[in-house]
Amino acid sequence: MKNLVVGISGASGTAIAAAVLERLHTMPEWNSILVMTGSAEKTANIEYAPGVEYLKSLANDVCNPFDIGECIASGSFRTEGMVIVPCSMKTLAGIVSGYSDNLLLRAADVTLKEHRQLTVVPREAPMNVIHCRNLAALAELGCTIIPPVMSFYNHPETVDDMIRHIACKILDSFHIYDNDMTRWGDGK
Ligand SMILES: Cc1cc2nc3c(=O)[nH]c(=O)nc-3n(C[C@H](O)[C@H](O)[C@H](O)COP(=O)(O)O)c2cc1C
Repeated sequence: MKNLVVGISGASGTAIAAAVLERLHTMPEWNSILVMTGSAEKTANIEYAPGVEYLKSLANDVCNPFDIGECIASGSFRTEGMVIVPCSMKTLAGIVSGYSDNLLLRAADVTLKEHRQLTVVPREAPMNVIHCRNLAALAELGCTIIPPVMSFYNHPETVDDMIRHIACKILDSFHIYDNDMTRWGDGK
């Protein structure tokens, strides 16, 4: 079993996290470990109709964001990396400054210090210079940054199609290519 940490912070876009977890749920070789901040739960309650409990039910393990003694707080616990989806500007700032005052931030810090894959899906619009500088700092550290931007070359017909496309790009960053992404060149 390969462990993948899925962090959800309080930015808009809970449905993208759900799409990632739904796909991992169908992959027996992957063990998803979910950590949601309190703000993530609040945001999910506002914008995500299936609800927080459904979201949690998709993960193999759910961590308490305030319990800094959970397995993902230690580098000795082996993972293939972490995705933060969506990533709020506050969580982004916390990662960049190394200020790990909750389990999600600590897990991200561990991912960086162990040189594992850290994929961040930052969500804010417009972004100010602080946000842009923090993203540049993460890019310099080797993180993969996947803003949840729309794409049209794959001919999406619904919002779900757009969500699926981004979720599959996130999985690609962990070399999980067996997903249902419409790729450029498909059908040629
Ligand atoms: C409905 C809702 C949507 C939000 N959307 C965003 C967003 O897209 N990006 C962002 O940076 N913050 C957003 N916020 C604000 C964050 O939730 C807030 O900054 C919070 O402190 C983030 O905490 P966390 O990073 O620990 O989850 C939103 C808040 C609410 C209630």
